[in-house]
Amino acid sequence: MKEKVLVTGGTGFIGSHTAVELQQEGFEVIIVDNFTNSEPFVAGRIEAITGIKPIVEPFDMCDAARLDELFVRHRGISAAIHFAALKSVGESVLKPLEYYRNNIISLLNLMASMKSHKCNALVFSSSCTVYGQPDRLPVTESDPVRPAISPYGNTKQICEEIIADTAMAQPGSLNAISLRYFNPIGAHPSALIGELPRGVPENLVPYITQTAIGLRSELSIYGNDYNTPDGTAIRDYLHVVDLAKAHVTALKRLLYGINKTQYEVFNLGTGKGVSVLEAITSFERVSGIKLPYRIAPRREGDIEKIWADPSLANRELAWKTVSSLDDAMLTAWNWEKELRKKTGK
Ligand code: WQD
Repeated sequence: MKEKVLVTGGTGFIGSHTAVELQQEGFEVIIVDNFTNSEPFVAGRIEAITGIKPIVEPFDMCDAARLDELFVRHRGISAAIHFAALKSVGESVLKPLEYYRNNIISLLNLMASMKSHKCNALVFSSSCTVYGQPDRLPVTESDPVRPAISPYGNTKQICEEIIADTAMAQPGSLNAISLRYFNPIGAHPSALIGELPRGVPENLVPYITQTAIGLRSELSIYGNDYNTPDGTAIRDYLHVVDLAKAHVTALKRLLYGINKTQYEVFNLGTGKGVSVLEAITSFERVSGIKLPYRIAPRREGDIEKIWADPSLANRELAWKTVSSLDDAMLTAWNWEKELRKKTGK
């Protein structure tokens, strides 16, 4: 009998790659998605990759009744991986109430249903944004969480606290892991799933690939006056497939009871900082395309530099990134070309 795993936001960028890895590891995947940040065709792509059709329940995680009914219909869900959330830093500044309502209520609904249906293993999609601009690098899980610079980042911090307090309150009631992602990039090597930004991409790599394919005229580099070797900001870019695999490892850690405390946090990154210009150079190397760009003013809310100390995840999850920056850029580019074939534009 396959272990059933609920994957909220499972047709999204990280969620879909994780659904693929879960199915390939023999789990039965049940996806809840309202498609605000993804497309229904992704479920068919997951099936095309794995040969297994994921169960897809198309509703909003803020609908507590629908969610509880799902737990009744799919008896025996062993665990949940919670991706479903609004995730745009910029948009969250403009629509804070929507972000607080959506991102916090969806988590509270999930945890309420998990409790009443005795599902006590939760993996939470968190973000390195909780660290703000660290004083020292690389950043470890024991570095302080700083006041968030966006409502989006604040919802991640609040959700981590809700999960931590609940897991620590009654041993055995909930075992949870928060995974703090650095910058996920790239796409599945099949080029059947990848990042699907809505409208003008906020994130660097989809903007690069859309510029290279001619959808955007040039990339704006947000600032080259940072205190970094080449003046552009530094991030820790990891391949989305490496990131997805970490979710399966974290899930198994909880299901097989090898977690050391009821609540654990892991940084997921390569441990290497890469500047915007270095990322562009990597893309140009793998694509053979000279990328048009201009230097623009710094973007409000951006931090200067951050990269992970991933040693805790390396040790405790026996996980580390295996794909290089070039691998990630090449898969991102292949996905962009595939996507344009499908959409014809
Ligand atoms: C990376 C670097 C930009 C676009 C955010 C969230 C994080 C996660 C990933 C949700 C920065 C520069 C970007 C462009 C540029 N989101 N850049 N031109 O801001 O590090 O992280 O997205 O989970 O939680 O905080 O990622 O890709 O937007 O930016 O120069 O057109 O690229 O200034 O230095 P970021 P990003």
